[in-house]
Amino acid sequence: MSAPAPTSLLPDNPDGVARAAGFLADGGLVAFPTETVYGLGADARNDHAVAGIFQAKGRPHFNPLIVHVPDLTAAQALAEFPPQAARLATAFWPGPLTLVVPRRPDAGLSDLVSAGLDTVALRAPEHPLAQALLRAFGGPVAAPSANRSGAVSPTRAVHVIEGLEGRIDAVLDGGACGVGVESTIVGFEGNQPVLLRPGGLPAEAIEACLGQPLDIRAPNAAISAPGQLASHYAPGAAVVLGAKTAPKGALWLGFGPTCMGADLTLSASGDLLEAAANLFHHLRLLDDMAAPGQQIAVAPIPDHGLGRAINDRLQRAATPRT
Ligand code: TXA
Ligand code: MG
Repeated sequence: MSAPAPTSLLPDNPDGVARAAGFLADGGLVAFPTETVYGLGADARNDHAVAGIFQAKGRPHFNPLIVHVPDLTAAQALAEFPPQAARLATAFWPGPLTLVVPRRPDAGLSDLVSAGLDTVALRAPEHPLAQALLRAFGGPVAAPSANRSGAVSPTRAVHVIEGLEGRIDAVLDGGACGVGVESTIVGFEGNQPVLLRPGGLPAEAIEACLGQPLDIRAPNAAISAPGQLASHYAPGAAVVLGAKTAPKGALWLGFGPTCMGADLTLSASGDLLEAAANLFHHLRLLDDMAAPGQQIAVAPIPDHGLGRAINDRLQRAATPRT
């Protein structure tokens, strides 16, 4: 996705859907309408494609993304649904509700999609074009809102083009979004349902369905508080940064052509997109390789473009846990 190429505007017909699905299958990026806002979609199993989302949006952080599926059956192949989650999905899917549930270890999802957390946010959108695309593609689609980082969410194809022209493969044009605000996000702490983000489905409807009040959390506070995120995300082994040469006694995670003899490399050629795609997976692999007490030393990563997001995550991984 690094070479600037024209972004195709695909029509709302079977040919447009088939072409959009083809881009996704090739690891490309396709914006598509949902009833809430336009999403910027990529194959949720493909680390490289998911990294491309962050690159296209210019996002400095790898926050976790929502994975879109056509229905509850497809969702259950990816995650475990406790009874309350299954009840909400049955009542409100397809629709503007996202459920954060424990991801299955064998789900085949990119680690980047849930930013190293052991939960995943899942949603079955109701928009007929989103449904058609998900069924034509036949796999899970990671999609944040299809805007540049910091800009407002797009509710028309033209908004997507304004922000992302030349940075993504295509936009599937479904006209204006009906709901216009993002989905409501609900997670669970034990048996307690928690409202992580108010959105297109009113909290009252969720409480009525569950017969129980929702706790309220600020989602970003909950996810990005360093201790909390680190405890999910950081490897068991201690991580040290800025290792330009082979570290004594530690495993070495390299980046770029000068890191000869690294145990693993994020990208031998120094490609930040490849490095982002490898980041979480490589940290897991090194953690498995590490002897008790052995550290993981990471080569310096340039602090621009996706490198900023990589460094943000590495700094969290290197923060001593309490
Ligand atoms: O309506 C929507 O939800 C749109 C359309 C495209 O579906 N999507 C959307 O995605 O708003 P995004 O990436 O902008 O919002 C994702 C948010 C994260 O910022 C975080 O708050 C929450 O979902 N999230 C995702 N995964 C999570 C997880 N595992 N635990 C807690 N929160 C999570
Ligand atoms: Mg957004």
